[in-house]
Amino acid sequence: MRTAVYPGSFDPMTNGHLDVVQRAAKIFDRVVVAVARNDSKQPLFTMQQRQDLVAACVSHLPNVSVDSFTGLLVDYVAGMQSQVIIRGLRAISDFEFEFQMALMNRKLNEHVETIFMTPKDTYTFLSSGIVKEIAKLGGDITSFVPLPVQAALKERLHPSGTTYFV
Ligand code: PNS
Repeated sequence: MRTAVYPGSFDPMTNGHLDVVQRAAKIFDRVVVAVARNDSKQPLFTMQQRQDLVAACVSHLPNVSVDSFTGLLVDYVAGMQSQVIIRGLRAISDFEFEFQMALMNRKLNEHVETIFMTPKDTYTFLSSGIVKEIAKLGGDITSFVPLPVQAALKERLHPSGTTYFV
């Protein structure tokens, strides 16, 4: 049983994240999307909301589950009986941080490997941060995030209904 862990803030999940999960689910027996409690970031959605949104977006993938973690990622991965961290690599701008993280994680636990996966080219410009900014300003995000996330962004940012999307 080969288990891969796909960690991230997922605040919120985008079509790029979903594309990476779908690709990983074809390669590994089990993929655990692990939502991180990252105290250095001020998330728009609570931990539970981010987890629920990921769960709604991956419900069509039988070998994918959702979990959350605190503390060191490598400790969580080892605790899940896994040796694999999946990270999406969109562009060269991601590389420096991802490279540093992968090498640091290897220093922390030499048995854990980081595998980089590239999302579909049409999603390489996507990030949760940009999607949130566009949504806040009333822009159309329908092609950037899955349906449950579209609805959640609308509810969270424009509860009175003034948006140009959904
Ligand atoms: O989606 P993000 O914000 O790019 O995800 C970053 C994340 C959560 C994967 C990273 O911050 C992380 O692994 N945090 C857990 C704490 C940890 O292990 N830090 C050392 C990593 S070198």
